[in-house]
Amino acid sequence: MTLDNEEENIPLHPIERTLLTFLSKKEKNGDWFDIDSVSSGSGLSLDQIRRGIEWLKSKKLIDVQEENAIAYALGSQGKTAVAEGLPERKLIKLLLASGGSAGLDAISKSLGPEFSVALGLAKKNNWIGLSVGTARLNTSKASEKEKEELLLEKIQAKGKLHSSELSPEEKEVLSALVKRHKGLIDEISQKIVKIRITSKGHDVSKSAHKDEIDEISPDVILSGSWRNRPLRAIDVTSSAPSFYGGRKHPIRMFIEEVKEVFVSLGFEEIEGSIVQSTLWNFDALFIPQQHSTREMQDTFYLSDVKANLAKFPREIDLIKASHEKGEGTGSLGWRYKWSEDEARRIVLRTHTTAVTIRYLSDHKPAEARVFSVGKVFRNEKPNYKHNPAFYQIEGVTVGPHLNMRNLIYIISKFYSRLGFEKIKFWPTYFPYTEPSLQTMAYYEKKKRWMELGGMGVFRPEVTIPLGVKNPVLAWGLGLDRLVMMRYDLNDIRDLFGANLGWLRTAKVL
Ligand code: PHE
Repeated sequence: MTLDNEEENIPLHPIERTLLTFLSKKEKNGDWFDIDSVSSGSGLSLDQIRRGIEWLKSKKLIDVQEENAIAYALGSQGKTAVAEGLPERKLIKLLLASGGSAGLDAISKSLGPEFSVALGLAKKNNWIGLSVGTARLNTSKASEKEKEELLLEKIQAKGKLHSSELSPEEKEVLSALVKRHKGLIDEISQKIVKIRITSKGHDVSKSAHKDEIDEISPDVILSGSWRNRPLRAIDVTSSAPSFYGGRKHPIRMFIEEVKEVFVSLGFEEIEGSIVQSTLWNFDALFIPQQHSTREMQDTFYLSDVKANLAKFPREIDLIKASHEKGEGTGSLGWRYKWSEDEARRIVLRTHTTAVTIRYLSDHKPAEARVFSVGKVFRNEKPNYKHNPAFYQIEGVTVGPHLNMRNLIYIISKFYSRLGFEKIKFWPTYFPYTEPSLQTMAYYEKKKRWMELGGMGVFRPEVTIPLGVKNPVLAWGLGLDRLVMMRYDLNDIRDLFGANLGWLRTAKVL
């Protein structure tokens, strides 16, 4: 046979050389070899073989094939059965101990729930004879091991057995044992890797070649051997064990993305406390004190504490006047007696709008573009799209001449930057905006529209007491549902479980 230069020059690592030599000697008529047999025949460890396979495959010196197969191992019951005997063997031991025969009552007492299986199989094996309530030992037969026992021992000795290692008769015994009862034999599905040398592999195995340098050690450098031996090329595409380093939670990543979108649209981030007085959470938003959203079944109140509102005498007067008679706003207000004491109650904020309102009150801007992202709390039953704690994306733009069309533009832009294109707007009602809209997105997975949040133009009853003169476009949008849709989840609560598998492998989308 003539070898061309190319094949002569393919450098091999010692592992590859051993593998290739083994395969070329053993192979007849294109045989496939599984890793276990290669390992026992070549003296290489499984790990070395796996590495060698990757290298030889990329050099096209071997073919690789993967098969799914089932292996059998002893289950917990199987281990006990080998140690203590199967029920039928226990019965024989019992009869031996009692001189060769025993009454069925006594046997039943001692074997418990295993009694009838034991009796049936011992009889079938011809190990015992039965007569009038008594079992008698058939000593010559019972001293032989039954097929089941032999197979269990074989599996125990090997640890794991593939069906290819079993005779047809053993296979029958095995399937009966698997069915006999749970925990006797465990079925383990496995991938079996098989390899076969290629003709190029044959050629290379016969050629004389220099061993590759696997690792650059001080030795290799000092001895100068690197000058005339090739270095092993690294195949960066070969598979490697998965590695899970620390990473951000998908919600965290999404929040950062949301912030980036707003910043890129010229917004500035603002922050506020999770705990708020009802003054800022409700009253400053022109939500009347009898409004149903303020009730305990909707809102979490902190018991036994009240806010100190001494810092806000002016704000309180104006908010009170707005609620009671709509002073300076062109409306009549809600026409009831507003209570300062009620406004001092403290809640876990039910929306991030409280943060926006504090900002407007503190800065009274003529123009602004601000946003915030934060957790809000509502006393509602959890289900696939509701969680009592969730994130909102809140913001306002303030400026002369702003109107609803500008608001729809900003919000559409925001969603499309995040990749949500199927969005619609729907008229709705909030006590603090006029007009008001809600937005919905179509969730392909659930084949339905999901409500995402609310928006609108703040009413004068809100802005006048705060001292803001120009129109304010405001929105508060749910964040969790967006993450749920992006990750195709069925249930919003999955975002907050300790599902490490998902947390480790969830793609950065
Ligand atoms: N606060 C409203 C909510 O939580 C959303 C909203 C914010 C609506 C601002 C209008 C203006 O649902």
